[in-house]
Amino acid sequence: MSGSIGANAWVEELLDVKPEPLRALMAIEADAFGIGGMNEWFLPPFVRQGRVFVLWQKGIVDPVGVAECMRQWQNPQTAYLFGFAVRKDRRGEGLGTFFMQELILWLTKAGFERLELTVSPSNDTALHIYKKKLGFVKVRRYTDEYGPGEDRLLLGLDLMQGSADRQGENGGGRQNNG
Ligand SMILES: CC(C)(COP(=O)(O)OP(=O)(O)OC[C@H]1O[C@@H](n2cnc3c(N)ncnc32)[C@H](O)[C@@H]1OP(=O)(O)O)[C@@H](O)C(=O)NCCC(=O)NCCS
Repeated sequence: MSGSIGANAWVEELLDVKPEPLRALMAIEADAFGIGGMNEWFLPPFVRQGRVFVLWQKGIVDPVGVAECMRQWQNPQTAYLFGFAVRKDRRGEGLGTFFMQELILWLTKAGFERLELTVSPSNDTALHIYKKKLGFVKVRRYTDEYGPGEDRLLLGLDLMQGSADRQGENGGGRQNNG
């Protein structure tokens, strides 16, 4: 699956704070998460102190996806995925699955042992990708995490399990077929 998508899409770390592609990333964020989206105050520190990943698709000028990652203070070998979104007009093509597979591969190669994220219990599409397709497991539920009625499920993926398979399957390197 990632092979066919990988011929037309690729993931890059964002290393600089520049108006472009930040503007495009903030637009994806606002569209996906509303007021919870990364804005001009939050994305730059994530670029400089955490990791921001950009999904590109062949033939499309602006980014088609964004993900932000931080290292967990209590468990430095655990990465926490703060945000993850594919541009609305590019969803349903397998890009979200490909993007997450690439992040898992990148984090595994960087030495992380575990990936955690939170997701709304009603986000069926994301849950399908995380749990059914990629093997994330529910750790716990945070009640009212973002305010009344805004529960989140904490999911985790053991990156050590099957990491050799993953690296072999994808040729051991990130796709960059741009
Ligand atoms: C979640 C998101 C990244 C998925 O991106 P995407 O490019 O559409 O994902 P894919 O095309 O790779 O996969 C979508 C999968 O969900 C399935 N799906 C779609 N609607 C679904 C639903 N209502 N219930 C269950 N599964 C559903 C699709 O069938 C597909 O699975 P399949 O490959 O087994 O057929 C995208 O929807 C998004 O950005 N949403 C807004 C932000 C968000 O919710 N981020 C996650 C927060 S943790």
